[in-house]
Amino acid sequence: MSGRRLRRVRYREQVSRMVRVAAAQYAPVVGEVEANRAAAVAWTGRAAAAGADLIVLPELASSGYVFNDENEAQRASEEADGPLAAALGDVCARSGCYVVCGVNERSAEARYNSALLLGPSGLIATYRKVHLFHDEQSWFAAGDELPLVELPFGNVGIIVCFDMWFPEPARALALAGADIIAAPTNWVASFKRTVYDDRGYVQGDYVLMATAAQNGVVTVAADRVGVERGTRFLGASIIVGADGWPLAGPASSDGDELLLADVDLDSVAAARQRTPRNHLLGDRRPASYRVRRLPLRTPTPA
Ligand code: ACM
Repeated sequence: MSGRRLRRVRYREQVSRMVRVAAAQYAPVVGEVEANRAAAVAWTGRAAAAGADLIVLPELASSGYVFNDENEAQRASEEADGPLAAALGDVCARSGCYVVCGVNERSAEARYNSALLLGPSGLIATYRKVHLFHDEQSWFAAGDELPLVELPFGNVGIIVCFDMWFPEPARALALAGADIIAAPTNWVASFKRTVYDDRGYVQGDYVLMATAAQNGVVTVAADRVGVERGTRFLGASIIVGADGWPLAGPASSDGDELLLADVDLDSVAAARQRTPRNHLLGDRRPASYRVRRLPLRTPTPA
């Protein structure tokens, strides 16, 4: 971490836990691994120059999303500590920032739709997407754990796109102490009857607002734009405060965009304490969440 940033974070910690969060929305290109790496580096550098402490890039930013076949998916993969991690680690080391970036991860056993968390000292964590969407199941194995990382300014967890339609991962991260959930995404129009509402929000925006409101956690979705082999990506990236309301976005449906928001992470504790007598996590009553099936009683004829 650079001296400049360390001083700034320490200073902030005395008065509040202010963090500048960024979501970079752009269009990676399928199979163009080197160009995608250069784009990830450029967006990270741009966000760091704008003062971002934590930068989120889209899902599968290293490889693109719509693969034609196994060979293509494999050729566009790399190890977690491969060239993308090295290149982004350099940017983090130079600027003192942290970045979460989607990667087509190759390991000895399988490929994963993963997200790397990197900082000034390099690769910190790899999250492997747990809930694979549609054709992703042809290319990737599912992950089975949720890393939570204690960064100098707060605790960061990761989910990837379709994961957010399952409330359990975000809840588990919040219960474990997450302040921010970073969500690299590739939201697609497929299988949806309504794609945008009249204010430019997509369903994922509302899901992340609900996730933030239910858990008292900051959520950051970096979506991609563009069309890949007939699949349209939705943009509409968003940064949501711990109270569930947007701080930045939704971004446009089709343009490159950098969203920035200053978040006071002390707002996490305040959001969780919903009223003097209610705490979002403390008031959970799991023992009372038993479903009792009741038979429909039909009147017996007289
Ligand atoms: C998705 O999970 N990328 C739709």
